[in-house]
Amino acid sequence: MLVLAVETSCDETSAAVLRAPNSETVSGKRNCPRSGTVPLESAGPPSSAPEILSNIVLSQDEVHAPYGGVVPELASRQHIKTITAIVGEALSRAGVGLEAVDLYAVTQGPGLIGSLLVGLSFSKGLAYFHKKPLVGVDHLEAHLEAAFLENSGIAYPVLGLLVSGGLTALYLMKEPLSYQLLGKTRDDAAGEALDKIAKFLGLGYPGGPVIERLGKDGNPKAFPFAMPRTKDRSLDFSFSGLKTAALKQIREHRIGKDDHRLGDFLASFEAIVARTLVDHVRAAADEVQPKSLVLCGGVARNTRLRTRFQEYARGAGLDAYIPSPKLCTDNAAMVGAVALKKFARRPDLEIDLDLDAYARA
Ligand code: KG4
Repeated sequence: MLVLAVETSCDETSAAVLRAPNSETVSGKRNCPRSGTVPLESAGPPSSAPEILSNIVLSQDEVHAPYGGVVPELASRQHIKTITAIVGEALSRAGVGLEAVDLYAVTQGPGLIGSLLVGLSFSKGLAYFHKKPLVGVDHLEAHLEAAFLENSGIAYPVLGLLVSGGLTALYLMKEPLSYQLLGKTRDDAAGEALDKIAKFLGLGYPGGPVIERLGKDGNPKAFPFAMPRTKDRSLDFSFSGLKTAALKQIREHRIGKDDHRLGDFLASFEAIVARTLVDHVRAAADEVQPKSLVLCGGVARNTRLRTRFQEYARGAGLDAYIPSPKLCTDNAAMVGAVALKKFARRPDLEIDLDLDAYARA
């Protein structure tokens, strides 16, 4: 069985073709041996995970960079311009034509409505024309699923930290396709805070990768930051206070784009963001006692965060799984992976032309 998946929730146009594993494993059965407490990062797909035949991602970074953030109207127009070519490329790299596709999958939300509608309308058209089922997929669930694409043997219950530009959230997954929200950001997402500080310093967009590059050799202890906490000490996150504290330090110390202290400042800011995220994972793990940990989303590309996360997991005796960097960014393979699991449970699914996009989780 082949699935053609499309993802256009924000500023990446992506299409992927995946081949389903046998139906027994699609439904979530584990057959990958656990490897003690050693993190299985990028271990490669075991036989029971879907096979990614192609996963094409076209970033719109260059389009949005002059504005220091994503401009929704430009994003949807860009998706319209590129989606046909991206889907064509995904099919061609997979070596198949549309007649070979058994199932269509598309991100339904949350995301930018205009952008989501491009992928949704495109996929509905294909599914309708070819009389094949169409599965709508939640973007956040797809991010969490990315870890399972490379490691189908992840033991439940799983505690997942999703860190992207639009959301920072903790989920408890007691079984496949079950996602219980434990806490989420009350204001800025972690990626958003990184993007805004980079924008304020004139470092460009997206901010996370620039901060990582320029802060790589900086001293993460040079600029002190207090760990942000919500007043009720819940598992919710709040990054806007940290962002304000960073802006205050920039002004007080007159840190500029070409300042010799820039690397130290960026390393310090990145370090407190990573420490805060991992501290929430620790608090959540104490509460829900998971067997495994998953880190995902665009910010999960960050080396400092990946390292801190793995260090914590090792200390706590938990298996930690982080998708390889290309599967952390928005991509259609993770959408196809969720669709295959959903379809395995509901093989009677058909094309639903009323399938709607939604902006918020
Ligand atoms: O999940 P994602 O690709 O898109 C959505 O938000 O949907 O995440 C994008 C976010 C941006 O805030 C970007 O600055 C951040 O991920 N990011 C990083 C890195 N690469 C991307 N943050 C820190 N370090 C990175 N290497």
